[in-house]
Amino acid sequence: MTAPSEHFAGRMRQLRPSTIREILKVTAQPEIISFAGGLPAPELFPVEAVRAAADEVLAHSGREALQYGPSEGFPLLRDWIAEEMQRRGVNVPSAEVLVTNGSQQVLDLAAKLFLNPGDVVLTENPTYLAAIQAFQTFEARFVPVPTDGQGLIPEALPGLIRQHHPKFLYTIPNFQNPTGVTLAAERRPILARIAADHALPIVEDDPYGRLRYHGNEIPPVKHWDEAGCVIYASTFSKTIAPGLRLGWLAASAENFSRLLILKQAADLHTSSFDQRVAHMYLTRNDQIAHLARIRRAYGERFAVMDAALRAEMPAGYEWTHPDGGMFLWVTGPAELDGLTLLEQAIKRQVAFVPGRDFFPTEGGRNYLRLNFSNSPPEQIREGVHRLATLCRELR
Ligand SMILES: Cc1ncc(COP(=O)(O)O)c(C=O)c1O
Repeated sequence: MTAPSEHFAGRMRQLRPSTIREILKVTAQPEIISFAGGLPAPELFPVEAVRAAADEVLAHSGREALQYGPSEGFPLLRDWIAEEMQRRGVNVPSAEVLVTNGSQQVLDLAAKLFLNPGDVVLTENPTYLAAIQAFQTFEARFVPVPTDGQGLIPEALPGLIRQHHPKFLYTIPNFQNPTGVTLAAERRPILARIAADHALPIVEDDPYGRLRYHGNEIPPVKHWDEAGCVIYASTFSKTIAPGLRLGWLAASAENFSRLLILKQAADLHTSSFDQRVAHMYLTRNDQIAHLARIRRAYGERFAVMDAALRAEMPAGYEWTHPDGGMFLWVTGPAELDGLTLLEQAIKRQVAFVPGRDFFPTEGGRNYLRLNFSNSPPEQIREGVHRLATLCRELR
């Protein structure tokens, strides 16, 4: 029996199904070349090494792996993550690392931690669609922070903080989803300072930082977070495989203790088995070589997509040139409607995500997000050819 709609909580009124997840159903058809999903390249998943890790876990610690575990996460995996944080330039003890079901769960827990209905979240504009969804579940109001090609503009924050009293700032500093833009190194300490001065929590979402194929790594904002304002989120989805649903957060002891209660309430803990398999895989295999393969492949795919766009797109279209990650962001002519374009593109068997849904407030009709990690070069050329042909015909 379906519940009568008046039984649903008020928050359900503003929730909509994710357009991407709807599009993904259509684009799963093999004849469609899809630049839509945020999918890693499946041929780079370390299937054999994960199988060997799973065998070893079951052979040597099968009972523990199939038992309930601590809400904080598998201790050895937490230690590995704390070392990984060190490699990223952040000093955190394992005790401040919480293993989660993907970094998506961090967004949900952070929203639960901070938001009452109507509270303000500051975000980049556009921003990650499923973050909008996660925060909307808690009836957030969104206030965009001005950005440019170097990411968000920290100097704009004090005014916004005074005016809107936001509960937190959500930012994706590396190869942002959807734009591919990276927050400039010199802006990061300024951002941390402003957050400290105004006691503004920051949720720093960093799924893509390790996927840099060009230029030098930049430490996360959390590197400068002496005040403990930053809840840092990352994931194994792009470096091992998203099907594991393994991510983590690193937060100051004060935030950590509260996030842990929320994690307990949400799902007790992340899969003991998956955590042990991931830890076994990470310690038995050369991660530097594996990451290098991913970076090389994505760098090549970006270059192929960029070259194809340059060769084929009509005037009036521009796109970003990210140094890593999985997406580029196309700005079309002002009169373009991305959703209409998508309907026609699907008939030509090519798909992308229209930009509109990445804007938490208004705007965004004339943008497209293109994923380049999930298609081999030949398909990228053919897909761009189909898309560009359509764009030329529409002019
Ligand atoms: C910016 C951003 N944050 C979080 C996620 C969630 O990733 P996961 O839950 O697989 O770690 C994604 C996935 O694409 C993302 O793009």
